Amino acid sequence: MSSRRLVLAAALALPVLASAQAPIIIKFSHVVTPDTPKGKAAQRFKELAEAKTGGRVKVEVHPNSRLYKDKEEMEALQLGSVQMLAPSLAKFGPLGVKEFEVFDLPFLFKDTEAFRAITDGAMGEELFRKLEPKGIKGLAYWDNGFQIMSANRPLHSVADFKGLRMRIQSSKVLDAQMRALGAFPQVMAFSELYPALQAGVVDGTENVPSNLYTQKIHEVQKHMTLSNHGHLAYAVIVNKKFWDGLPGDIRGQLEAALKEATAYANAIASTENDAALASIRASGRVTLHTPTPAELNAWKQALMPVHKAMEPRVGKATIAAAYRAAGFVAPK
Ligand code: LMR
Repeated sequence: MSSRRLVLAAALALPVLASAQAPIIIKFSHVVTPDTPKGKAAQRFKELAEAKTGGRVKVEVHPNSRLYKDKEEMEALQLGSVQMLAPSLAKFGPLGVKEFEVFDLPFLFKDTEAFRAITDGAMGEELFRKLEPKGIKGLAYWDNGFQIMSANRPLHSVADFKGLRMRIQSSKVLDAQMRALGAFPQVMAFSELYPALQAGVVDGTENVPSNLYTQKIHEVQKHMTLSNHGHLAYAVIVNKKFWDGLPGDIRGQLEAALKEATAYANAIASTENDAALASIRASGRVTLHTPTPAELNAWKQALMPVHKAMEPRVGKATIAAAYRAAGFVAPK
């Protein structure tokens, strides 16, 4: 081969060599701040994934809706613009996988173990299988604990909700829940919550203390009720085509990283939320109310009809399976 040809051949081979060494990029987008349970677990996954793959994978975590808002991030995952997300379970209904809204049924879980009994069991796997035709693979469930209610007026009795515009995630069960309390639900992206409360576009919301505190919701709300009526958790999901196309050894290392990150996420959720609640209390800007047993019972009586009303949407069998797994006992 002439020297000119040799140079040409070498130049052509260069990009191939360079790309063989380039790391596989995983963009992991989420909507909360880095100092939340999900934010911390995403960061932990990044560190573990990069260490376990010896740098062959690089995970770019994009927090706080920096890349995409709630609905957009799901579309971005399906299109392959991002490879990994951890949306709340409430966000799968609009995708057409309505069974996920079972997790939004009010007062379904008596504790975290009841929630895990579903996600760690056959039902958790079955729900993930329903995502596959959508081009999505479910890899893990991350817990974030119980939700409280907030508004600018005290929320003690059900009557206190009358006429309030309450921000919800895009779940029909949450919509029905707010209506059963006499409020007007308003679906809104998480990133829009603070400005909407500040401007009075909505009057109140529900969420876990870590989300409320890190979004500074205590600056724009005067009252919070520790109702623990709902539960917030996430599904760590990936673009299925991307995931299936990974070399087997790398996929295995990423699975091992995610297993550790999941244990970490689930271990910190409750202490992080306790700390956030203590910070909200210490801010002195919010009156926190712990409902009396009688008040709580009145909320439950108002909300139980939502379970039945949602059967046609979520599926009677799905609700029954969730009841069995979670050991649900209807309030008297
Ligand atoms: C919300 O939109 O309220 C939550 O899903 C945000 C989150 O991801 O924790």
